[in-house]
Parts: sequence; structure tokens; C-alpha cells
Amino acid sequence: MQERFGQFKRSEISQAMEQNVKKRDYRILVAENTRGTIVGHSIVAIKKDQNGQSFGLCYARYVDPRYRRSGIASQLLEEAEKWWTKRKVSYIVAHSHTKNKPIKNLFRKFGYNVSRAQNNGTYKFNLLQKDLTGPPDSRA
Ligand SMILES: CC(C)(COP(=O)(O)OP(=O)(O)OC[C@H]1O[C@@H](n2cnc3c(N)ncnc32)[C@H](O)[C@@H]1OP(=O)(O)O)[C@@H](O)C(=O)NCCC(=O)NCCS
Repeated sequence: MQERFGQFKRSEISQAMEQNVKKRDYRILVAENTRGTIVGHSIVAIKKDQNGQSFGLCYARYVDPRYRRSGIASQLLEEAEKWWTKRKVSYIVAHSHTKNKPIKNLFRKFGYNVSRAQNNGTYKFNLLQKDLTGPPDSRA
């Protein structure tokens, strides 16, 4: 039987990744150790909201537990922010399960506003958001 990740089969996820990675508005950023093994990744994209405004979306990030607390997620987020800034998005959005303190702290450290808990019917989450349109010292 095929391994499943939530509602998706591994093959479905691979296929979606292979298609998405070719798109101009989609990036999978990876961090490698000195032997070239992938130890962390982040999946990011550029989307348009209902007002036609471009925004950056951080779908996912994960660092191998053996490599945590050494700045890898921070470096991945910095790289993503450089890409979003270059592509002139107005704001950046990410989501965190309400219980995921490391993720919320990571984004707070980078100046993201953490919303109150919201419920999408399946789980509780916080919206993490950062404005890129104002002067640097007004960004929150
Ligand atoms: C969250 C995660 C990506 C952080 O990766 P990391 O490489 O260890 O993060 P960094 O070393 O860059 O840490 C940056 C900041 O994040 C916060 N942070 C990271 N780990 C933390 C922890 N265990 N507890 C509290 N805060 C934490 C801190 O603010 C930290 O800054 P500091 O070191 O100056 O205190 C990593 O813990 C992870 O992969 N967790 C599982 C992710 C997950 O749940 N994915 C599924 C949903 S998409």
C-alpha cells in the first residue's frame, strides 16, 4: 500500500511538486549539510489576492531535528524574503498550527504579526503576516 500524508498519496504529492517546481511563481528552497544531504526545506510561492495584489505565501518549512537551532530556518526565510522583495509582493502570509511555538517564534523574530487563533473547521491556526509596502521601520 502507498504511503499517505494526510489525504494525499506520496505519488500525488510528488506529481504536484514536479509540476509546481517548473512554475515561475513557485520555489522549493533547500538547505544542505556539508555532504550535500538536504537537511531543511521551505516551499514558497507568489499568489494574487481578491484585490489583484501580489503576496508571498510560505506553504511549509521543515528542518531535520538533528540540525535545528542553528539558524537553518532563518536562512531559508531570509532567502524567500529576498525573492519576494525582488518580485515586489505587497505582503507575506504563512500559517501555523496554534500549538507550534517554534514556527510562531521564528516568524515573530522576522517581524511577522501573529493573528489570534482561527479555526478552519479542521484545525486551529494563526495567520502570520508581514507588510512589505511601508518604510522598513513601519513594517510589522
Ligand atoms: C520551526 C523550525 C522550522 C525551526 O527551524 P530551525 O532551523 O531550528 O530555526 P532557527 O535555528 O533558524 O531558529 C530561528 C528562531 O525560531 C525560533 N525557534 C526555533 N526553534 C524553536 C523552539 N524549539 N522553541 C522556541 N522557539 C524556536 C526562535 O525564535 C529562533 O530564534 P533564536 O534561536 O534566536 O531563539 C523547526 O523547528 C521545524 O522544522 N519544526 C517542525 C516544522 C513543522 O512543524 N512543520 C510542519 C508544518 S509546515
